[in-house]
Amino acid sequence: MDFFVDTANMDDIREIARWGILKGCTTNPTLLSRETGDYNKILQGICELVGGPVSAEVLSDDAEGMVSEAGELASLHDNIVIKVPMTAEGLRAASELAKRNIKTNVTLVFSANQALLAAAAGATYVSPFVGRLDDIGHDSEAVLSDIVEIFSVNEISTKVIAASIRSPMHVTQAALLGCDVATIPPAVFRKMLKHPLTDIGIDLFKKDWEKAGKQMVDAK
Ligand code: G3P
Repeated sequence: MDFFVDTANMDDIREIARWGILKGCTTNPTLLSRETGDYNKILQGICELVGGPVSAEVLSDDAEGMVSEAGELASLHDNIVIKVPMTAEGLRAASELAKRNIKTNVTLVFSANQALLAAAAGATYVSPFVGRLDDIGHDSEAVLSDIVEIFSVNEISTKVIAASIRSPMHVTQAALLGCDVATIPPAVFRKMLKHPLTDIGIDLFKKDWEKAGKQMVDAK
């Protein structure tokens, strides 16, 4: 499973990219609205930093508007993937963009049937939102599992991005189910990295090494 970072914050992306594990990035209007500056420049900067697919979302309600926005966004950088919403117009846009060889990420997917429709429209990625399903008491694991299995059984090449990740457990769950990608907020990446026993172990190794060095000096 590939790791994408779910943010538009350059400092956070730089920090996670330094770990050497990052394959892409997803943004949305909410995430970009938290940043200051020219959004197109921010997206170009993210593309340069990440060196992999970067999802940027359209805001139009109609397919024609989405396709027109997509053209502008795609011209920013080769790595831009166009996020379109899971609506009838979003499907029309995804289908048209597929014909133009522009990659798409159908977002706000909450069911297996929505994912199937997005795949049929030629989406490069679908993004089921696990956290938001959990928020309303639905079983996000079952939805994700169905999508992964349906795509596998039907040999659908559209990739599954586990999105709206809220905790390290969501990441483990996505990997166990065989998702292609998990797009993860920086705070969750930091939680994944940490374990108290790792810190305790490093301290212990250092102390034992210093003790052994002191004994060698004393023995001379
Ligand atoms: O990738 C989608 C993600 O940004 C939505 O996350 O936490 O707002 O549901 P959240």
